[in-house]
Amino acid sequence: MEAIILAGGFGTRLRPFTFTRAKSLLPILNEPMISHLVKTLPKKVDTVILAVNYRREQIEEYFRTHDFGKTIIVNEEPEPLGTGGAVKFAEKYITGSFFVLNADIICSLNLTEMLRFHEKKKAVATISLWPVENVSEFGVVDIKKDGTITKFVEKPKAEDAPSDLINAGAYLLEQPVLEYIEPGKLVSMEKQIFPQIIQNTGRFFGFKFQGHWIDVGRISSYISVHVHLLEAQRKKYVIGEQCEILGPLTHSCAGNRVRIGKNTTVESSVLFDGVTVGENVSLDHCVIGEKVEIGEGSNLKNVAVGDNETIDKNTTHDNAIVWNQPIPQGYPNKQIGNVIGE
Ligand code: GTP
Repeated sequence: MEAIILAGGFGTRLRPFTFTRAKSLLPILNEPMISHLVKTLPKKVDTVILAVNYRREQIEEYFRTHDFGKTIIVNEEPEPLGTGGAVKFAEKYITGSFFVLNADIICSLNLTEMLRFHEKKKAVATISLWPVENVSEFGVVDIKKDGTITKFVEKPKAEDAPSDLINAGAYLLEQPVLEYIEPGKLVSMEKQIFPQIIQNTGRFFGFKFQGHWIDVGRISSYISVHVHLLEAQRKKYVIGEQCEILGPLTHSCAGNRVRIGKNTTVESSVLFDGVTVGENVSLDHCVIGEKVEIGEGSNLKNVAVGDNETIDKNTTHDNAIVWNQPIPQGYPNKQIGNVIGE
């Protein structure tokens, strides 16, 4: 059985970190996001198809050097084809039922249970569903008691919402779904294909789950996934190897070879490998890229500092992105599309 992992987006909302790396390789508790996902795949999935485009070589290198006990196929689209287009582009590798998963979602969904549900229902398509409080910001599903989805309703008013359940970004599909997708085109699975499957087959199901679900699309959710996982593991912080940490770290994570000076406080922040922070610094809700140097006495709050940047001593920044290097060629200056219709 195959799983297609969608990992070809630019991740523009996570710039400046995606200027230099594929979003799916961003570390979560010092382990690439995509690795967390691959570890949740059921045993039955023996082949992983990585639908990639931007920074393909980094993803390929990661899987070349890390073994997950599954066959890995790196499938590069000539250009980003959207969720539907990327799935169609992987058609030649599909042998039966298959998963389609967003690389950037960290959640407690049990894919083995979802597979069991899908088989029991004899579904053509099953999508994972997550309950939200703020229905008016999402597309919600109209769902029957037996789990059949009859339609999607985009951003309804709370009083008109047919449910509080949104598409949580994991799909289990039967091979005939591929026939609905035109090859070589930019196609959205969610907007263009799913409505047709609902209408033509009546066998489109939703699988609800509980626990946690975090779409790691923005800097704020990148930080909150760390805080959430640390709390779940009852840890105050996680640090990598060869670190020298002289100040307190709370709800935070530091990679390898990180040095933090005396009287420096780090709260709800993520520091990548090789970061050096001087004395008397305060970092609050910050993400600090690889090999960044932060001078003593600085005060940063809600700040994202890209790889290899330097922050002078006694700098104060609030709500800022720090990036003084060229933006890579071809990197879009705005978000291209949004898979789960946030
Ligand atoms: P933003 O630019 O910040 O919206 O991020 P993104 O490009 O990652 O888009 P989004 O968060 O909507 O994508 C969700 C998942 O689908 C991510 O894992 C993306 O890598 C992936 N994805 C988005 N568009 C494409 C595409 O055209 N092709 C492939 N193969 N994957 C895609």
